[in-house]
Amino acid sequence: EQIEKGGYEHFMLKEIHEQPSAISDTYRGRMLADKGIIRMAGVDDNMERIANAKRIIIVACGTSWHAGLVAEYIFEDIARIPVEVEYASEFRYRNPVITENDVVIAISQSGETADTMAAIKLAKEKGAFAFGVCNVVGSSISRETHAGAYTHAGPEIGVASTKAFTTQITVLTLMALKLGKFKGTISNSEFQFHLQEMDRIPEKVKEALKSDELIQEIAFKYKDAPNCLYLGRGYNFPVALEGALKLKEISYIHAEGYPAAEMKHGPIALIDEQMPVVVIATKKGHYEKVVSNIQEIKSRKGKIIAVVTKGDEEVRELADYVIEVPETIESLTPLLTTIPLQLLSYHIAVMLGKNVDQPRNLAKSVTVE
Ligand code: G6P
Repeated sequence: EQIEKGGYEHFMLKEIHEQPSAISDTYRGRMLADKGIIRMAGVDDNMERIANAKRIIIVACGTSWHAGLVAEYIFEDIARIPVEVEYASEFRYRNPVITENDVVIAISQSGETADTMAAIKLAKEKGAFAFGVCNVVGSSISRETHAGAYTHAGPEIGVASTKAFTTQITVLTLMALKLGKFKGTISNSEFQFHLQEMDRIPEKVKEALKSDELIQEIAFKYKDAPNCLYLGRGYNFPVALEGALKLKEISYIHAEGYPAAEMKHGPIALIDEQMPVVVIATKKGHYEKVVSNIQEIKSRKGKIIAVVTKGDEEVRELADYVIEVPETIESLTPLLTTIPLQLLSYHIAVMLGKNVDQPRNLAKSVTVE
């Protein structure tokens, strides 16, 4: 097992650090950035069917559901197809309205989650086109779907999902770009620019990973907090949900993710000097609005840990801690902002002496209802 961990103390830490190569493994062979081409057999072979979808419904559970939420922003932004993101367990039991014009995308690392599998079967029965985004090759969901795209993240052993999440976002971004190009909803130059930026992501993830020491310091400071709030807007709202889930899963600290603007409709009541609030405040995407949310937290004495774009000075003035990530285009920021949140939950769990790779009551793959 020590060998499998490749010198890391836990699988989770190894998998966090594998993300630069996992992301490039996901797009390598599919994306030719210099030629402006994306090849994805599962999409190419069914282009008309997918691009003409009246609606895309994404079904998933857990972290994969969060990747689905990020994909909702990407698909609507780039391919202009309406998207709904559903918990597979809710979707399958509520007599959903599905037609032959719908494309249902199942996202699942393991490809074995029972609820996601049942949701896909139901969608197929109702005539929808079923597309799978799985990591495990030959898994049940990958076999049940009409077509799909693997994430190629390599085996993920830690129960708390890390590289599966970022590679799911990578695959779904490529898919949205392909559809957008086909439909003409994204210009050639925008398309080209997205590809080039995607190609820079692995290096930027490496840079983001360098904040590890600072994050250990932050973890030490807040490890005994009983609660923690995570806020983000737009593309980074699902990242806030995912950050909170990571903390809950492995450190057993109660954490909630919220869209930053919704804070005033409830969570703001929880803020006092004991409450750490992790805010994703990168430059692209509602920056000024997030800054004013930060001011609201500060005036209630909350402790602010902000994830910001490199070089940001404004938030530094307000926050207790800032963690920098490199700049990129808005739609790709989740691939960078997720990294410090994974590390934060990891270090807190380690400091609290928890079983990071196998947290209590959780399973890597939930194959029963
Ligand atoms: C379990 C795992 C999570 C995972 C979820 C969905 O709860 O602990 O890490 O996100 O299942 O799994 P899937 O394999 O379908 O992505």
